[in-house]
Amino acid sequence: LDVFKLWIKEAIDSGVNEPTAMTLSTASNSGYPSSRVVLLKGYNKTGLVFFTNYESKKGKQLISNPNCAVNFFWPELERQIRIEGVARITSEEVSEEYFNSRPEESKISAIISPQSKVVPDREYLENLRDRFNYSKNVLCRPKNWGGFEIIPESIEFWQGRPGRLHDRILFSRNRDGWKKERLAP
Ligand SMILES: Cc1cc2nc3c(=O)[nH]c(=O)nc-3n(C[C@H](O)[C@H](O)[C@H](O)COP(=O)(O)O)c2cc1C
Repeated sequence: LDVFKLWIKEAIDSGVNEPTAMTLSTASNSGYPSSRVVLLKGYNKTGLVFFTNYESKKGKQLISNPNCAVNFFWPELERQIRIEGVARITSEEVSEEYFNSRPEESKISAIISPQSKVVPDREYLENLRDRFNYSKNVLCRPKNWGGFEIIPESIEFWQGRPGRLHDRILFSRNRDGWKKERLAP
């Protein structure tokens, strides 16, 4: 995770677009995969944190099948990170703290949007938002919205090199800590 933090920092410092955007892949219980982009909002000693609706497609899948994969790609840096691991729901405190730090409009969208459900049209969503605004509700985090922490089992760092003889360094978790290996490109 130290190398991971360094690469994230270098991606942010280099000014690339959406440096913290990561493609998150989940799977149904029968193994059918599904991918989408989410934003990395933090990391700690054990894993990567992002926030979402627990009743969304990804939320439901991660709760019933926590195996997942994450991919970062920064073309400008010729770098890719691939992570495989398991997800667990973050503590209520982590979710509260992040929710409360968000702009008011984002809080309202999180409260009113039934993420991943079919809705009749855009107007329906705008009405939900407007009605919420008029009712002067308090902006509390809904219980179905919060964080997941992804605990990596393996992390691969890919660095583009001339002549396509790229570097691939794979860290895999084992009983004693982490094993480091080089993979052929
Ligand atoms: C750049 C970018 C960042 C996004 N960040 C998030 C995020 O942090 N959390 C989230 O729930 N959805 C985020 N989304 C929307 C997701 O890609 C997706 O549309 C949504 O979460 C519903 O996914 P699901 O139906 O598979 O659960 C983001 C989309 C883009 C393009």
